[in-house]
Amino acid sequence: MGLLFKNGTIITASDTIEADLLVEGEIITLIGNNLDTDGHEVVDCSGMYLMPGGIDVHTHLELFDFGNTTSNDDFDTGHKAAAFGGTTSHIDFVIQPIGGTLHDGLDAWRKKSQHLAQIDYSFHMAVTDLNDDIMKEIPTLIDEGITSLKVFMAYKNVFMVDDATLYNTMRVAAEHGMIVMVHAENGDVEAALTPALLAEGKTTPYHHGVSRPPEIEGEATNRAVVMSGLTGCPLYVVHMTCEESIDALRRGRAAGYPVMGESCTQYFFLTHDDDLGADGFEGAKYVCSPPIRSKHDHNVLWQAVRDGTLQAVSTDHCNYWFEGGIGPWEEWQAEHKNTAWNTYEKQDPSYRRPGKERGKGDFSKIPNGMPGLEERMMVMWEHGVNKGRISANRFVELHCTNPAKIFGMYPKKGTLSVGSDADIVVFDPNKEHVLSVETTHMRTDYIVYEGWEITGKPVKVYQRGNLLVDGEEWHGKNGNGQFVARKPNAPVL
Ligand code: URP
Ligand code: ZN
Ligand code: ZN
Repeated sequence: MGLLFKNGTIITASDTIEADLLVEGEIITLIGNNLDTDGHEVVDCSGMYLMPGGIDVHTHLELFDFGNTTSNDDFDTGHKAAAFGGTTSHIDFVIQPIGGTLHDGLDAWRKKSQHLAQIDYSFHMAVTDLNDDIMKEIPTLIDEGITSLKVFMAYKNVFMVDDATLYNTMRVAAEHGMIVMVHAENGDVEAALTPALLAEGKTTPYHHGVSRPPEIEGEATNRAVVMSGLTGCPLYVVHMTCEESIDALRRGRAAGYPVMGESCTQYFFLTHDDDLGADGFEGAKYVCSPPIRSKHDHNVLWQAVRDGTLQAVSTDHCNYWFEGGIGPWEEWQAEHKNTAWNTYEKQDPSYRRPGKERGKGDFSKIPNGMPGLEERMMVMWEHGVNKGRISANRFVELHCTNPAKIFGMYPKKGTLSVGSDADIVVFDPNKEHVLSVETTHMRTDYIVYEGWEITGKPVKVYQRGNLLVDGEEWHGKNGNGQFVARKPNAPVL
């Protein structure tokens, strides 16, 4: 018996068609008109859109050793939240431990994902400590289904690497058909600006933004783009925020370099002046790196997703309690080396690991990152498609299809076609709802889109033909999410 989606409008990156869609087992087996219902379970999709499950290629679930704490959502809560928002696959960043191997990092990420996973997932590998042995280890990742590397040009003395590391990583990646991603900000300049600001008493969340001006993002983006041109290595610049970096990407693309980029939902809407600059310590909710920018930059980003300079929209989901550090967390941390925070918090619902409050009086101690995994597609639908900035097809391309193509998962993921995984979002384009921390599935005490009114919502979400979300009901199961092994030599879009 199959699962037959009848009377819906199928939206892919290229087409909008009225058709029925049949799923047998975990795969889409037929798309056509007036398909026979005999022997199938029918899902009536009248008035609904059918879209491929979203893919968020930039997440940090249970990220430890960053900001002296651990991000809240793990492969359980983060997955559930993602699915309620229409995202059925994501790629998280494994971090190579300093002094350790890439496989040490991979082991740690496997431990935290394997038994909890509720949706499908894959990993990028962040190289933090390159030497000859690690250079040899890089191509072995392809056997593990990992075809993308990441380097941080920021976070000096934490994750940042030097230019030689970036260049050599790109050289090896290019030889083996892998792609390199960069967090592009000049970490040396940021590391000089921050203590100078603090010494002048400029300590508020607003000054986090001042410590990371757009020029240092533009400079680092340009550097990475040039290295991509030199090495021929495909480059994907993550979380692009501003005109300076978009211009650098555009120049690289015009020169024929294999360079691509994403932005993240928050950078289309939030501002340095109003949000980071909110009263009191409120701005800490919006501290992320690179920082949120200006209305002018929002327009630049919308133009870049429209004209093809940017290929994808992700979230960089990396959430921390606004008011954390509640309960005997210091003893717990001493005993557990900053891991197992979920276990700690399960002892008592009021217990919380440290969060944004760490940076009261010193913006440099605010853990960087914000929630957004659940809202990405709904917010971008409302402000992209409903407001006429992008078509529904371009929406699917940016949130589903391009991420799958760029990272070697297409056409298994990212589209609705015969032979693809049946990751399907039944989307009600007329459903009006309001985003709120009261109703979110993310593990958070705030959301950055509080009170936003949205028209359009995933009402049923399927992963490989299995129902995950039905209205407000959750049908997923820990361990059902599968690791997606990806292929090298993916296209440059
Ligand atoms: O502020 C951010 N972006 N936090 C997560 C780590 C990163 O830089 O992507
Ligand atoms: Zn980053
Ligand atoms: Zn990130």
